[in-house]
Amino acid sequence: MSAKLIDGKAAAAALRGRIAIEVSRFRESIGRAPGLAVVLIGEHPPSNAYVRSKVKATREAGMESFEHRLPESIEQGELLALIDELNADPAVDGILVQLPLPPHIDERVIITRLSPDKDVDGFHPENAGRLAIGLHGFVPCTPLGCLMLLQQERGDLTGLDAIVVGRSNIVGKPMAQLLLQANCTVTIAHSRTRDLPAAVRRCDIVVAAVGRPELIRGDWLKPGSTVIDVGQERVELPDGSRKLLGDVAFDEAIEVAGAITPVPGGVGPMTIACLIRNTFVSAARRERFVYERSL
Ligand code: GUN
Repeated sequence: MSAKLIDGKAAAAALRGRIAIEVSRFRESIGRAPGLAVVLIGEHPPSNAYVRSKVKATREAGMESFEHRLPESIEQGELLALIDELNADPAVDGILVQLPLPPHIDERVIITRLSPDKDVDGFHPENAGRLAIGLHGFVPCTPLGCLMLLQQERGDLTGLDAIVVGRSNIVGKPMAQLLLQANCTVTIAHSRTRDLPAAVRRCDIVVAAVGRPELIRGDWLKPGSTVIDVGQERVELPDGSRKLLGDVAFDEAIEVAGAITPVPGGVGPMTIACLIRNTFVSAARRERFVYERSL
């Protein structure tokens, strides 16, 4: 049996289309475009590529993009001063500081300095806390995109067994919170989990977010399960060519799973669409603009 492919590219295009319509209504009514400030420090090539895609998607949705590219040598105090400026700027609805930051800058200090009302990444402790206790706030983009794909695929998730492999603040922990809110029974697995294959085999939903290429094998999966692969690592194959691999051994998993996201073309496009969504929602909240709730 061959699993159904979950087309993240199509789902993301549809979401971005719905947002673009709302953005155009917003601009007409409020007289300005929603604005996203993106801060990139240094020359980390994958971060550069992500930021380019985020800026392009922001503009395509009819929103304003403010780019701040800063040298690796920037001091923490200078970065904090920029964040203070962006927090106070009325044209900026969302602020994204691309991670990782250089080692001399304390990520936690930077994230905590963002205004929670403009933290469209959902990384600020206030937004993380809001998610944990079920209050409205910004939800991190990758797990939000994964949840949308899961709900599109399986509808109501109530009662399903779900495992999140990975416990990062950006993906694993918020993903587990979202699945819990959706009434799943949730396991969070990580590098110290004792029998990972057995834990995965019990679950109807698998979200893989460990950053270890092809760690999760096809024979670990419960037949018919839904697999969301957040991993995307560029690896060199024995013949010297380079390939983007997920955390799941795709060729094996497709024989067992009921549905699976491809890499690329699965979760990646949804992360960007959710960033655009969160930025629009931030602008709408700040201007008290009433929008289509299905976003
Ligand atoms: N680095 C990797 N993923 C992300 C993300 O979603 N947001 C930010 N700001 N940095 C990242």
